[in-house]
Amino acid sequence: MTTADLEAHFDAVIARRDRIEPRDWMPEAYRRTLIRQIAQHAHSEIIGMQPEGNWIGRAPSLRRKAILLAKVQDEAGHGLYLYSACETLGISRGELVELLLGGKQKYSSIFNYPTLSYADVGTIGWLVDGAAICNQVPLCRTSYGPYGRAMIRICKEESFHQRQGYELLMTMMRGTEEQRALVQESVDRFWWPSLMMFGPPDEHSPNSERSMAWGIKRHSNDELRQKFVDLTVPQAEVLGVRLPDPELSWNAEREHYDFGRPDWDELSAVIRGDGPCNAQRLAHRRKAHDDGAWVREAATAFAERGRDD
Ligand SMILES: [Fe+2]
Ligand SMILES: [Fe+2]
Repeated sequence: MTTADLEAHFDAVIARRDRIEPRDWMPEAYRRTLIRQIAQHAHSEIIGMQPEGNWIGRAPSLRRKAILLAKVQDEAGHGLYLYSACETLGISRGELVELLLGGKQKYSSIFNYPTLSYADVGTIGWLVDGAAICNQVPLCRTSYGPYGRAMIRICKEESFHQRQGYELLMTMMRGTEEQRALVQESVDRFWWPSLMMFGPPDEHSPNSERSMAWGIKRHSNDELRQKFVDLTVPQAEVLGVRLPDPELSWNAEREHYDFGRPDWDELSAVIRGDGPCNAQRLAHRRKAHDDGAWVREAATAFAERGRDD
């Protein structure tokens, strides 16, 4: 088959919304885009363990500690599925980890914000995992098979994460005045960074259009952001918290909520490395990687020995 035949076959698979598998021919730019996106996603799961992991030793009860431990472990699992999916594109997990630790690949900007109180565990579950679900549910139908299949399992666990966060906040809102104030303060800090998780506005998202044409992305950043706002506002009302946006209001004509403009300069700064915790997150990840070197060496030695027998 000629390259033109291969391309025509690839285009036909994409057009009928079928899946591309690792054995299939694919354009080099498609492969590179997927590696970048899946790696960034995997790194986000792993770095995302830190802000909440910070509170495991200070959980207010055994029940909360068990829930938080399970959630943070789930995120490690998500990272591992995604590194495995990425490896099917011809890059190794070791190389991906090096790219993260060297600052050559990114992770979600949201994890560069600090967690200042236990209410943040609830807010992250509700808003951050909630935003992740809006982004990730359409990825279950993404055009690359291993990525879509990993996302199906991940999304099931993310919905548990979202609910445990909401339940924690609801418990605090039924508590003392001080607890309610902690929840409000936490929501005030996390609302705008959660909206930024969907990425820059569509007119400033140069790769989006091509990713949509390839069936990697199924909806634009702004569509997903709107969906998240529409889902979240009624939940905030039930919870009894105020979302920190004076422009937030129902638009009966559009049948969507109108909302204010996130501070895109802040997002660019955090992506550039100037967020409140960028240096701390990477330093912690590097140390954990170095501390785990003996485990990787022992596992490799053990595998070698098994091969000789
Ligand atoms: Fe996750
Ligand atoms: Fe999660």
